[in-house]
Formats: sequence, C-alpha cells, structure tokens
Amino acid sequence: MSKVESVNKWDLNRIVFIGRTWDEYMRMFGLTKEDLVGRKILDCPAGACSFTAVSNQLGMDVTACDIAYYLPIEQLEQKGLQDIETTMSNMERADIQKNFLWDYFKSVDELKQIRTQAMNQCISDMKRNKNRYISAVLPTLPFDDKQFDLTLSANFLFLYEDKLDYEFHLQTIKELMRVTKDEVRIFPTTNFACERYKYLDKLISDIHNLGWMTEEIKVPYEFQKNTNTMLKIMR
Ligand SMILES: C[S@@+](CC[C@H](N)C(=O)[O-])C[C@H]1O[C@@H](n2cnc3c(N)ncnc32)[C@H](O)[C@@H]1O
Repeated sequence: MSKVESVNKWDLNRIVFIGRTWDEYMRMFGLTKEDLVGRKILDCPAGACSFTAVSNQLGMDVTACDIAYYLPIEQLEQKGLQDIETTMSNMERADIQKNFLWDYFKSVDELKQIRTQAMNQCISDMKRNKNRYISAVLPTLPFDDKQFDLTLSANFLFLYEDKLDYEFHLQTIKELMRVTKDEVRIFPTTNFACERYKYLDKLISDIHNLGWMTEEIKVPYEFQKNTNTMLKIMR
C-alpha cells in the first residue's frame, strides 16, 4: 500500500488543494520581513500557498510540506483548479458569505482571482524547485530535529476540530516542535464555526508540561469572522 493509500481520516478526495498568499501569511502570523530573513522556515501543511514561492524569490529560505505533494504536479494543478471552482461556488451562498468579512477581499470574484494566482505561483515554483516541496503525512515529518528555526502551520489543525482529534493535535504539535529550533506559530485558534478550539486550554496546559511556552496573539488578519488569533509556541 502506498503512503497516500495508508493515510487514515484523510483521503485525497477530501483534501482541498487551495492556498493563501504571501501577504495573507504575513498577516495571519503577525510577521515582518525581518522575522524571516536569515532563518530556515517550514510551512506545514502548505497546500497551494504562494508563501514558499514568494519568500524564496525574496531570498528567504522556506520549505513547504503537505500530504498532497505525493501527487504528480499535473494532477495537483488540475485538482487545485477544481477545488477553487467548488470552494468559490460554495462561497456564493449567502449563508456561507455572511461568515466572512469582505474588507480584505472585496468580492468572491476577487477572492477567486487571488486564490488562483497563489496556486499558479505555487505550481510554477514547484516545477522549478521540486526540492522545496516535500511530501509528508502528519503527525510525522521527514525532517531532522531542529532543522528549522521557525515553523508556520495555517488553516489546518484547530480549523478541522471535527475531523482531527485531540491526540492528533498534540502529536502534530510535538512533531512540529521537534523539527523546530525556536518557535511554531499556528493560525487560527478557532474552528470552522468561528469558535475557539474547545480543548485549547487543555492543549496549552499539556504544552507547558512539555516545557514550552505559549502565547495567544491577535493578528491583523480576519477574513473568517472571529478568526484572528494565532498560537505561538516557544522553547
Ligand atoms: C486548508 S489547507 C491549508 C493550506 C495552507 N496552509 C493555507 O493556509 O492555505 C490544508 C492542507 O492540509 C493538508 N493535509 C491534510 N491532512 C494532512 C496530513 N495528515 N499531513 C500533511 N498534510 C495534510 C491538505 O493536503 C491541505 O493542503
């Protein structure tokens, strides 16, 4: 059985290959360019984000990893385009649209254009720099201890509170910390219903018991309503 076939809970049909832009990442994680320069950074899971592509063009050192990278690039590109279509037609629904603030993106059309651009940048960079895009199945990562200075994890863990259980969250955070020297940042701390992850206090207490420090930080990015906080975990 291949690695992808063996993945439980998530099969490829359930993976949405969609991604945010470099500017969204900078806001979601409260980052400045100075935070990135001279540091080895991991984006996990990175999906179809343009963060790795743009950062590396700016001379930074970013690696992306995701379960979806097991797929051939052409298949990923097709899947990404289909996923954007499906997601955007859902976004046209009034009951879904009302969960979002339309100031950063002005319309579903603009959102679609920006998501498509992010995916195209990701795919083009992947074709040129395949070694920057590593396939991995959380909660295990194919990296050395403290290989990265900073690890970013966006729109995955707590958002999927209904599909990923507490143990998965804790094991994933331990693994992200294992491969990271300084700090891990996770955005958001809420689920799809825009509610704070219900086990966040327990998780923070378990993280402290492992000897790490945490900070919940409000960031200058709120697209999904009430979704503007990241969790920072530091050694
Ligand atoms: C909603 S996307 C978020 C992508 C990106 N971080 C962003 O903010 O746009 C979630 C990603 O998690 C990946 N994923 C799901 N389960 C995974 C697992 N067990 N290990 C690694 N990646 C996984 C999916 O392939 C998908 O690209």
